[in-house]
Amino acid sequence: MSEFFLVNGGKKLKGEIEISSAKNALLPIISASLMTSGDVLLKNCPRLTDLENLLEIIRELGGIAEFRGSDIFINAKDVSPKLVSKELTQKIRASIFILGPLLARFKEASIYMPGGCNIGTRGIDLHIVGLKKLGVSIKQEGETIKCKRSGLQGTKIYLSLPSVGATENLMMAAALANGTTTIINAAREPEIIDLANFIKSLGGKVLGAGTGTIYIHGVKELGTAEYRPISDRIITGTYLAACAIAGGEITLKNINSEYLSAMIKVLLQTNCEVLTYSDLSRESRVNLIAHDRDAGYFHEKHYKNYIKIRSPRNLRPISFIETKPYPGFPTDVQPQFGAMLAFAKGASVIKETLFENRFAYADELIKFGANLSYKGQEMIINGKKMLNPAKVAAKDLRGGAALTIAALGIDGESIIEDVHHIDRGYYKIENDLKALGAEIKRVRA
Ligand code: UD1
Repeated sequence: MSEFFLVNGGKKLKGEIEISSAKNALLPIISASLMTSGDVLLKNCPRLTDLENLLEIIRELGGIAEFRGSDIFINAKDVSPKLVSKELTQKIRASIFILGPLLARFKEASIYMPGGCNIGTRGIDLHIVGLKKLGVSIKQEGETIKCKRSGLQGTKIYLSLPSVGATENLMMAAALANGTTTIINAAREPEIIDLANFIKSLGGKVLGAGTGTIYIHGVKELGTAEYRPISDRIITGTYLAACAIAGGEITLKNINSEYLSAMIKVLLQTNCEVLTYSDLSRESRVNLIAHDRDAGYFHEKHYKNYIKIRSPRNLRPISFIETKPYPGFPTDVQPQFGAMLAFAKGASVIKETLFENRFAYADELIKFGANLSYKGQEMIINGKKMLNPAKVAAKDLRGGAALTIAALGIDGESIIEDVHHIDRGYYKIENDLKALGAEIKRVRA
């Protein structure tokens, strides 16, 4: 059954909500749980469809994997490396993450080519090359990838580009290998550090996560863990952009400001005020860090937990934003910030360097009256203060979120169709936005 959002925009945002654990941290962490026969409990998890699908994959493999309240419980003792059904595998790209852990534990594993969302071709060659270097023999038969190994041997793996998923898959495969594996030109995303911390909490040995070189010292077996993954920096960025668009003042709790640097820098340049602070300084707000907007400077050391944004709803354009691997500007908030810049009077330019098809939301923004054009990897936005309400459709996860927050800034009723794309990465986004003062409801078509 298809569902859509009905948004009555033009209301300023106000309020405070807590951000849950990050989808992109949870997907590899849930997969890593396949490497142990011990219990794993993951805290503060949103019921996202991408996560539900991965849990179902683990159940199909023979494990216990389920939500218990807002926690996820996994026990993979009875897992065997059978071929998961094609339909389920192709629902999520993250199904590729089961390959590393299964090969860490078993002598063979096969999967159908994974699925994903509509943002680009998204190869898996780096995953395959790395696994081969660890000693896995791999062949593709039709749509199936068949893997076999005798032992996994620690080795040096150079990634030709710092792929997040390949770094994670190889960290997992190496966790139970003989000897030390070194991943060179590894991705440095916060979610990589989180996966390393999770593997360590299971008793594994990982060094250097968060830098370009990661060392994984294989251990004989892994144990149990209770773990709270990092909070979702992409959801945080989405709500910050929502407030920038709609105007007002909101506070987001359970954040790590260090991971938001690139986004905060842009928000400051658009004329928003951004403050980050910790529980300690909350009582004495005089201690809040004042950000120097013009210099785009902010001081974040020791101040975690909360972020507050105040938007005058009079946004300035940004001459150039380019998406880059972390610590650069994240591709996963490019659409949301693109939507924001449609409301910033003047010319902004966005260059998308990671995915080839991440401007699908732009054609929908045009239906709101946005003045923009894109060619290849570059989009030029001639922002205006007000757009008009319209009926638009989500084409992918983050693009759908971008359209939803755009509608918050537009006086009158807008419709966002195909919200199932958004549900992949936001648990009932309408509830969060309502808690922040938006008028939005989910309607069954
Ligand atoms: C992860 C995130 C995704 C984010 C992306 C970039 C998860 C579950 N997803 O995706 O939300 O947008 O990082 O920050 O964490 N590539 C290859 N060959 C490979 C692997 C990647 O060519 O074997 C290419 C991809 O097509 C893409 C680029 O490398 O153009 C980056 O991909 P990668 O860093 O692997 O992203 P994902 O792990 O898929």
